[in-house]
Amino acid sequence: MTRHLQMRSAPQRKISGREWLVFLIGFMGAGKTTVGKVLAKRLGWKFYDLDQLIETREQRSIASIFAESGENTFRTIESAVLNELLEQQLKEDSAIVALGGGAFVHPHNRDVLQRAGVVTVLLSAPVEELARRCQSSGNMRPLAGDQRKFEQLFESRQEAYSLAQFRVETQGKPVQQVAKEIERLLKTSN
Ligand code: S3P
Repeated sequence: MTRHLQMRSAPQRKISGREWLVFLIGFMGAGKTTVGKVLAKRLGWKFYDLDQLIETREQRSIASIFAESGENTFRTIESAVLNELLEQQLKEDSAIVALGGGAFVHPHNRDVLQRAGVVTVLLSAPVEELARRCQSSGNMRPLAGDQRKFEQLFESRQEAYSLAQFRVETQGKPVQQVAKEIERLLKTSN
């Protein structure tokens, strides 16, 4: 477990208070949604999945948004939904939020998160493991079809991902263990 402190300039939200906002980031297949749900349940907090919110708002799947409107439009919607989430739904309660794999890569989204004073946790795993998880999941990911592009995208995002405040390795660990590790690091960092 490594701590990255580059984004800690904003005041941290308190785990004992009502507004501890933890954003799970990482590449496709990192387990952000799966771990996020388990972690939120353990803590008794709300859980939000940004991709799910996008699909609900758009009334179409992420794959359809990419196919019908293109990635740029998807990114615009993604940023808008992130803003709405921070402004409207996350005011009162502590929550865990799973971000889509590309959301944290965009500097504008990182700025918004930093200004909001949220905690960011990177879930990491080797690219071969991430590819295996994406292939075995039923989730149709528009950017996971081509293995070589998948690996290139993974490499190109490492610098942005390294800006997360915390990093948790997930390879070979059951979901409950990853959730427990995040819970422990949140408590010890408070
Ligand atoms: C994307 C990851 C996806 C989804 C979209 C784009 C990406 O989310 O937001 O397909 O750019 O890495 P997951 O990371 O939950 O698969």
